[in-house]
Amino acid sequence: MRGSHLRRLGLALVTLLIATGTLAGAALADDERYTPGSSGLGDPFFPLAGNGGYDVQSYDLDLDYTPATRALVGRAFVTAVATQDLDAFNLDLRKQDEEGHFYAVSRVAVGKDNGPTLKDMAFSHEGQELTVVPRPKLKTGETFVVLVEYAGTAHEVTDPDESIEGFVPTDDGAFVVSEPQGAPGWYPANDHPTDKALFDISITVPEGITALGNGVLLSSETENGKTTWEWSHGMPMAPYLATATNGVFSLTVTELAGGIPSYVAVDPRRTNTAVLAHIPAVMAFFTDTYGPYPFDATGAIVDFAPDVGYALETQTKANYSNTPGESTLAHEIAHEWFGNAVTLSSWPDIWLNEGFARLSEWLWLEHRGIRTAQQSFDLQYARPATSSFWQTPPAALPGPEVLFSSPPYDRGGMTLHALRGKIGDMAFFQLLRTWYVENRYGNVTTADFIETAEEVSGMQLDAFFDVWLFQPGKPTSW
Ligand code: TRP
Ligand code: ZN
Repeated sequence: MRGSHLRRLGLALVTLLIATGTLAGAALADDERYTPGSSGLGDPFFPLAGNGGYDVQSYDLDLDYTPATRALVGRAFVTAVATQDLDAFNLDLRKQDEEGHFYAVSRVAVGKDNGPTLKDMAFSHEGQELTVVPRPKLKTGETFVVLVEYAGTAHEVTDPDESIEGFVPTDDGAFVVSEPQGAPGWYPANDHPTDKALFDISITVPEGITALGNGVLLSSETENGKTTWEWSHGMPMAPYLATATNGVFSLTVTELAGGIPSYVAVDPRRTNTAVLAHIPAVMAFFTDTYGPYPFDATGAIVDFAPDVGYALETQTKANYSNTPGESTLAHEIAHEWFGNAVTLSSWPDIWLNEGFARLSEWLWLEHRGIRTAQQSFDLQYARPATSSFWQTPPAALPGPEVLFSSPPYDRGGMTLHALRGKIGDMAFFQLLRTWYVENRYGNVTTADFIETAEEVSGMQLDAFFDVWLFQPGKPTSW
């Protein structure tokens, strides 16, 4: 009796010890599961771009900009889902530097919604990494909202190729383009093309200034000498494609086939803008050639931004720093299909954006009877074999300083035209349509494209793509 009692007590003790041990172990393991999200996604060209541990669903940006002082005050709600148990996570936003450029963050809050559940959180800010310490910690699969309040002086971001981007002040507002790394120059972002999200952008500017965001215009209201322009884009967009360009513009809104609104904003100093009358026909041509237009709006922003000197395919309405020619107009609109809807997964694959946009220019010129795509190809192919142009294979770029050099554009476009010759018109256009419809709103790699090309054509194309995309030297047979 006694013995059995003792045995039972012993068993109970052992059980208790095991249970306690297990509990302690579980608690420790549980805590260890929460780790900081990485400060970058390891892109070969921009390793600190983007952050690990969460997936952004939407950005709700409220900006107030005063062109005269370049003062930018921002409030951003970022809704995201944790993809790991998070002890801390980063957003990309440039911290105010010694010269007073960029932003000081005054408040970070995290909650379950953008209202009552928001609680102030500890944070730190260094370079372009804003680190948030959420308490309670965030569990995998949990949806959360981060509020970031910041203010400072807008300033451009300078790229490895010396070009400028971001929130670029102009004489009457700002020209806002962010490829490849300008987004942290004006809003807290998970700045990598693989994290697409929905965007609501509201911009408050002095009365008389027009501000343009992506998507559709919800309202513009003036109060106390300031106008708030509220834009909403309900389709996935990579952070580098967001815009908030503002200045003196004349804004014309029309409706295209299929009910798509077209917003055309022109700086009154840009007078020869007859080219913009081609927008509906370009839209119709690429819709016929590639498939249905992927987004909820179209248009163009033609600014006076001589310091920038290039155009960018900001989603739904491209930004032009000068009046575009017909080729550039077609190029930027074609990016809505290739670049914006079907987006690269890492920056070295830029030819997937630019080669397709270049080919699209050639197809447009062919459609217009100006010159055939073959003639456009021939003009490029005429470059002597000794030209340095041929030394950079478009899918094996050495570094970010050549992202926007001619090989990814011209040899990228030539690769596609040569492929058209290789597999025939039927298979080629079927391939472009398949590529688009299977990947729109997503991200792709060069390997994905080669695989799709082989599937659609039924041909083995390794040697073809090796010569055109990966080997230095002028292709002579393929
Ligand atoms: N992607 C843009 C286009 O092809 C061009 C672009 C973005 C660019 N950043 C640049 C060109 C920097 C030159 C320099 O439409
Ligand atoms: Zn382009």
